[in-house]
Amino acid sequence: MQNILAIYGSPRRKGNTTLLLDHAVEGVTETGAKVKKIVLRDLKMSPCLEIYGCKETGRCVIQDDFQMIYDQLLECQGLMLASPIFFYTVSAHTKILIDRCQSLWVKKYWINKVPYGQGELKRKGLFISVGATKGKRLFEGPLLTMKYFFDVLDMELWKTALYRGLDLEGDVLNHPDYLQEAYEAGKEFAFALSA
Ligand SMILES: Cc1cc2nc3c(=O)[nH]c(=O)nc-3n(C[C@H](O)[C@H](O)[C@H](O)COP(=O)(O)O)c2cc1C
Repeated sequence: MQNILAIYGSPRRKGNTTLLLDHAVEGVTETGAKVKKIVLRDLKMSPCLEIYGCKETGRCVIQDDFQMIYDQLLECQGLMLASPIFFYTVSAHTKILIDRCQSLWVKKYWINKVPYGQGELKRKGLFISVGATKGKRLFEGPLLTMKYFFDVLDMELWKTALYRGLDLEGDVLNHPDYLQEAYEAGKEFAFALSA
């Protein structure tokens, strides 16, 4: 059975990315796959301190809730990550998680000496994001970040679900088509992982 991780990166409990990710989770569970949810705002996680305590083993030495996420990130077959756009990048909660994964970058590229950009992408990732504005370049920053974040996890960035023009909490409820799309994306994600 597929083991999928769903990481919620918004500070809002019922925000737009949360509702979209909830629908993707529903789509996944519909297929019988298992999903473990992680809500970043509920965790205590220090930013990366850049001390490179990870350089011997590839494991971060800061003892906080990241340790639990680290294990889940290594165990899952697929990751669904949702973050709002804050100042043209991901939320601070999401960025802290990404930066703590520098330990996995160290593991992959320094310890295991994988040639840059040549690792096998054995797993898959889905990225959901929402911004209030409608500019063409709204998601450019986070998409570049996601490219390198999923690479560190040996994951192909399988799909992105990006929505513009949603600002207030629950605005996405006025767009049932977006929620349906997220549900279908979750379902397809689980099928793609089992293929
Ligand atoms: C600190 C902060 C920064 C934001 N920066 C942007 C931005 O750069 N571009 C944009 O389109 N929306 C921006 N927004 C709006 C959010 O992306 C928008 O409200 C989104 O729907 C929030 O998603 P959520 O409900 O999942 O948290 C910002 C909101 C906050 C609170």
